[in-house]
Amino acid sequence: MYMTLGVPKETREGESRVALTVDLIKKYKKLGLEILIEKSAGLTAGFSDTDFQKEGCTLVDTNTAWQSDIVLKVNPPTLSEVSLMKKNSLLISFLESHQNTEVLNKLALHGVTSFAMELIPRISRAQSMDALSSQANIAGYRAVIEAVYHYKSFFPMLMTSAGSVKAARVFILGVGVAGLQAIATAKRLGAVVEAYDVRPEVKEQVQSLGGKFFEVKLEESGVGDGGYAKELSQTAKEKLQTALSQSLAKSNIIITTASVPGKKAPILVSEEVVKSMSLGSVIVDLAAATGGNCALTEAGKIVRTYGVTIVGIKNFPALLAHDASLFYAKNLFNLLSLMVQIKDDKPSLVIDLNDEIILAAMVTRHGERLK
Ligand code: NAI
Repeated sequence: MYMTLGVPKETREGESRVALTVDLIKKYKKLGLEILIEKSAGLTAGFSDTDFQKEGCTLVDTNTAWQSDIVLKVNPPTLSEVSLMKKNSLLISFLESHQNTEVLNKLALHGVTSFAMELIPRISRAQSMDALSSQANIAGYRAVIEAVYHYKSFFPMLMTSAGSVKAARVFILGVGVAGLQAIATAKRLGAVVEAYDVRPEVKEQVQSLGGKFFEVKLEESGVGDGGYAKELSQTAKEKLQTALSQSLAKSNIIITTASVPGKKAPILVSEEVVKSMSLGSVIVDLAAATGGNCALTEAGKIVRTYGVTIVGIKNFPALLAHDASLFYAKNLFNLLSLMVQIKDDKPSLVIDLNDEIILAAMVTRHGERLK
């Protein structure tokens, strides 16, 4: 009896990624798994059915893919998709676990052992499984490309016989994974880049990418006892926000990526700032799905307000589906490899409940919800 690995086609609107890419098939086969992929599951990410078949995958219908022993997905299953799953099977996917109660309950009820890719801890041993980072990196790059598209002027400074143009001023808010990639991409395109993050320790990273770190001289320090952050006084906060708003208003492009895990995104670009930007400016709000960093962002939409284009696209990685799928599928493979062992030439699942990665990412098991 083989152990089957199933990859259903993604059904969420606008999703074009796939959870398995052709380069990994040999590796999965070495683990002894038989691969069942739903017909045309990889098409929108640039992987044809023939590509998968050539490597030895079996093309199947929706139900057969869901009936596999192990199911790999990008987006969480719907309730009806969970009904298609085999009892006691394994699911690895983004599960939006902080808000997806009904689906998680149903997975538990169904006896599915499930792992949420958004819960992979950011520790060095789990770096190769860190799907939030791999996808945020892509989003940071693609956000700049989107800005270039909507901005009706050049990014680099140009001097031509027909006249000269100044370099675009790009401001990046939030210097995590997406922010760093956005800085690097905007710099490569010739823009003048400034960036701000509440964590002052990222200053050197911003500078090493050729950006300027936004700072304000305050009469007090944000560092408290033992080197921990200390909350600023109201006066200091206001001084900081005023100076930030002035710099933002002078920018041609703002890319916002500020987030605090599990919380609503902070509003950093007010309506006043948008109003004071010059006509034709562009704001790309990567935090659109979690409330937005700009007060005027509409999630899932591109709007024009006060002459400024505000982009609230929720799924940037899907716009770069081929590479996003390559990275994501590799993250899944690295996680699953922790759990599949070959014994007597047959694969078996061994879930080590003492492993901190497993403990952090596992959300249902043996009929119970763990998170
Ligand atoms: P991250 O956690 O690596 O970085 C977020 C940064 O924001 C941190 O450095 C944090 O210190 C900073 N921050 C928090 N509050 C701030 C404030 N008030 N002012 C300035 N900086 C502040 O997160 P990552 O992975 O870079 O993702 C960034 C955002 O992009 C998240 O909201 C994420 O959900 C979103 N995202 C959106 C995608 C899309 O397609 N729209 C795809 C991937 C990520």
